[in-house]
Amino acid sequence: MATATQIKALLQSHGTGDDERFYAIALQMAAAEARRGHEALAAELKSLVDKAKQRKSPPKSNLSIFHVAQPQGEAAELLEHVEPTCKISDLILAEPLRLRVGRILEEQQNLTRLKEHGLRPRQRLLFTGPPGCGKTMTASALAAELALPLFVVRLDSLITRYLGESLSKLRVIFETVNRTRAVYLFDEFDSIGYTRDFTGDVGEMRRLLNSFLTFIEKLTSNSLVIAATNHGERLDKALYRRFDDLIEFGLPEEDHVWETVQARLRGLNAAKLEKSKILQAAKGLNYAEITRACEEATKEMLIRGYKMLTTPMLISALTERRLFLNH
Ligand SMILES: Nc1ncnc2c1ncn2[C@@H]1O[C@H](COP(=O)(O)OP(=O)(O)O)[C@@H](O)[C@H]1O
Ligand SMILES: [Mg+2]
Repeated sequence: MATATQIKALLQSHGTGDDERFYAIALQMAAAEARRGHEALAAELKSLVDKAKQRKSPPKSNLSIFHVAQPQGEAAELLEHVEPTCKISDLILAEPLRLRVGRILEEQQNLTRLKEHGLRPRQRLLFTGPPGCGKTMTASALAAELALPLFVVRLDSLITRYLGESLSKLRVIFETVNRTRAVYLFDEFDSIGYTRDFTGDVGEMRRLLNSFLTFIEKLTSNSLVIAATNHGERLDKALYRRFDDLIEFGLPEEDHVWETVQARLRGLNAAKLEKSKILQAAKGLNYAEITRACEEATKEMLIRGYKMLTTPMLISALTERRLFLNH
């Protein structure tokens, strides 16, 4: 017979739409029956799980609207539900990074198989790197590919003047993390993980950080928890090993600058752009700035009624972004 705990867990996973957990519990029940000598029942349960899995279609790689169990009460104030806006194929990344992101996705897509063999798929991720290089975009793309909601943790609501309050808010967030399978993004994570504080309240922040680390160590759901920071250098390096994977984003290399420009200007008459001059003008800019410059140049072209986007127009937009940044 199934235990009360198993029945409760089955109902919970059904309620939150966590199919993987539902099947894993059903298989545990089958294994328990087999141990008791109820071979026929165990086989029947296993075959029911297999059939149910086949009927359910795999997660779709698109941005379609799916049902989202919205956080309630206090959690609703702490978690912002963000609609995914891109797919993994929209990301322009150096090959090693692309492979690492792909590996996270594949492990999540093969959760059940990995868990059946006692293996833990990557789910606690640390994203570091300069602004505008794809940290938020990757979190969003992972959510879209896995057909999971993306929740961004509102750190300004989480971090209050009172440690006790912040700790209890963190607990509320992780209750949701463990209840509702989704992608949870702790953006500006350095504000929690920053250990070299000069204001004297290091001890307090350390306690919040320790609490965060304990929560991620004891995750009971298949949610993805992503901590992202523009200031990886501020984090205590000992922190890194508490995550399953570290992805270090960086400024685009020349090939990727060009790819970004081409992707943003697709569909426009911009075939005559002079690559070397544009690469020169884009040196040191991040993906977000390059994207923005392409948009500004396109606006200029449309407003002036030009038929073609030219090299000087794009260079001028890139230069303006650089001046803006340096300002
Ligand atoms: N690797 C990338 N590939 C393609 N576009 C990118 C990439 N990184 C950033 N962008 C563009 O810049 C915008 C901001 O990027 P974002 O992921 O928010 O940066 P951050 O690293 O600061 O979180 C994106 O919405 C996208 O338009
Ligand atoms: Mg970001």
